Formats: sequence, structure tokens, C-alpha cells
Amino acid sequence: MFTKNLVALTAVAGLAEQAVAFNSHRHLHRAADVNVKRDYVTHWVTVYETAYVTDGQLDSKAAATEYVANSVPAPQPTVAAAPPVVSSQAPPPPPPASPTTLVTSAKPAPVNIQVSAPPIKVKEPVAVTSSAPAATTSKASSGNGGSSGLSSKRGIAYNDAGMANIFGGECKTCSWAYNWGSNPGSLNKNINFIPTLWGNKEPFISAWQSDAEKAIANGAKALFSFNECDNKGQANMLPTDAAAAHTKYMSPFAGQVPIGAPSITNSGQKGEGIEWLTEFMSACSGNCPVDFCNVHWYSEAQYADTLFTHLEAAHKACNNKPIWLTEFAPLDGDAGGFLKQVIPKLESLDYLHGYSYFMVANDKLMSSATSLSSPGQVYAALA
Ligand code: BGC
Repeated sequence: MFTKNLVALTAVAGLAEQAVAFNSHRHLHRAADVNVKRDYVTHWVTVYETAYVTDGQLDSKAAATEYVANSVPAPQPTVAAAPPVVSSQAPPPPPPASPTTLVTSAKPAPVNIQVSAPPIKVKEPVAVTSSAPAATTSKASSGNGGSSGLSSKRGIAYNDAGMANIFGGECKTCSWAYNWGSNPGSLNKNINFIPTLWGNKEPFISAWQSDAEKAIANGAKALFSFNECDNKGQANMLPTDAAAAHTKYMSPFAGQVPIGAPSITNSGQKGEGIEWLTEFMSACSGNCPVDFCNVHWYSEAQYADTLFTHLEAAHKACNNKPIWLTEFAPLDGDAGGFLKQVIPKLESLDYLHGYSYFMVANDKLMSSATSLSSPGQVYAALA
């Protein structure tokens, strides 16, 4: 008599591997149009192996294997980013960005994988004292614009100054703008331009000193440092290197205007996101000019609450200094609805001194070179 025993139902190695990948982050691939930044690709493949062993049945197959593959959602094509052209005369186009921006949402895993997402790890913040004079360090915020000296927190992230001017004309609640570069191009003078150093290489560093001086002379209310050092596709720098380079380029301006730490993503990968910021602050040991921290956030609209946990974690990692949210957008759904949901809360967060939605560009806050899209109208008009 032969007995058939089911001896194993195991998820093969692929399950564990991809569960980790799922938990850790998403790869967002920038399209040829650099404004279409946040197309992304996520692959889920769960493979189960079922092995049956038939006891004593020597002439039958000892084991049978069955593979089940689930795939959600369908992958999308990726396209490389356009190269930058930056000059201190012309409006600074985007710096060289590799095709991939790593962004993580701290989101629960789908039920078929049954692993819980790791929390964004935040180490205890180290004691960091800004070397900038008290005049530029954090004060209690008093409503829109906080202590930044701006009339409102809302900003315009742009590459095309013409579009930024049109948007600024419609958005009475927008007081400032930035373009990831150090030169505003033809941005209207009534919009406060905040220069960004972006990276620790040419052409950024040669243009920085004089562009930052000009911006401050024109009334810039802050300076932004490197862009997403925790992202290999962006400024990509170790916290220790970034601390040294940030100090080198920002110290001449300490005490003149508030200076932001390098911006970070909301990646939950080891060494990225909040972890990167914590390590940066630690490497600074109180000696870097940092008056506020600068963060980015992307996730699906249903995880909008993680925007606020990210801001909170950054505030803590930044030794309770103010925060600027200089890129954010939902990866799906109705952007206008998302903005209506999150903006009142952003406005009410005292430690948040500035925010700019990603971004004033076609198919984002604009629907053409001259017209605001429907989310653009929401962003421009919300009180
Ligand atoms: C890049 C910038 C670019 C912007 C808009 C940012 O992530 O760092 O170089 O201008 O996206 O495309």
C-alpha cells in the first residue's frame, strides 16, 4: 500500500528576495522629458513551490513541482533622462540626473506577500548646533511662511521660468520659487528665488558663490544645498563627504540667510532617506551651517499619511530645526484631491516653513505652456 504525503509547500527563495525589494523601495524612472519624473516600475513576482513526495512508490515520480507566479502590477517602460545644460547666464536647466530616482513609500505590503513593511528607521538625533548666528536659526513659526520671512509657505518648483511666471501670476499664495539651480533665469522679481547648489561638481560649484551672492542681494530668503545625496541618480554623496562639501560652500553665507541641509528622499533603504540625514547631522557634529532640513516625498495617494510621518522624522533627525518640503507628489490618483487633503495640514505644521509641489510643468501643475491644469488650479487657489 502506498501513501501519498504532502510534505512541503514552500515559497522559494524568490519570495523572500522580492519581499525585501518590495519593502525597501521603488525605483522611479525618469522619462526623456525630465518633467515626467515620477513614472515608476514595480515588479512583484511571488513564486511558490509545491513538492509532493510519494512514500515507497519507487516507480513513480518522487516529487512533483508546481510553480505559481503572481505579477502585480504590469511593468512600465523606462527611459533615460535628458542631459543638463547649466550656465550661470542662462536659466539653469536640470543638473545631470541619472535615470533613476529612488523613492520609498513606507507602505504596507500587499496581503499575498504577507510581510510587513519595515518602518523608516530613525536613529536618535545627535546634538547639532548650527554654526549660523541665532538670527537665522529656527524660531517658532507664526503661520504662513513661518519664520522664513516669506509671506507664505507655498512655492513653485520649475524648470521653465516662463511657466513659473504664469503660474505665479495665478497663485496669489505662492511667494517663492526654485529650479534646482543657482540662477533664476527670467523668473519675475516679485517671486522670491531660492538658489540650489545641487551637486559637488561642475558646473554647479563654479557658479555657486556668485549666483548665491546675487540671489541674496535680490532678497533670497534661504539657500538650498545638494539635491538628494541619498539617491544614486541625483547628487549621490556619502554623509561625511556631503558634510564637508556643504560646509565648504555654505559657510560663506552662514548668518545671512537660513541654509538648508542637503535634501533627502523618503527612501526607507539602508543609508538613505532619514537615515542619510541622521548620518549627515552626525558627521556635522554641530559644525555645519544648517538652519533647516530639506525633504522630498513621493508615494501612492492612499499613503498620504506617510508624508507627515516623514516630515516628523526629518524634523527630529534635524534636531528639531524647521523643515522645507521641496518636492512632493502622489504617484497615482487624483492630484487635486490629494492637494486638498494635505495642504491644510502642511499649512498648519509650525515647523514646516516651505513646501513646493513637484512641479510647475506640463502634465503636472500646468496643462500647457500657458494654462494651469486642474491640480494646478487647486494648488494655486487653496487658501
Ligand atoms: C532634478 C532636477 C530637475 C528636476 C525637474 C529633480 O529631481 O534633480 O535636476 O530639474 O527634478 O525635472
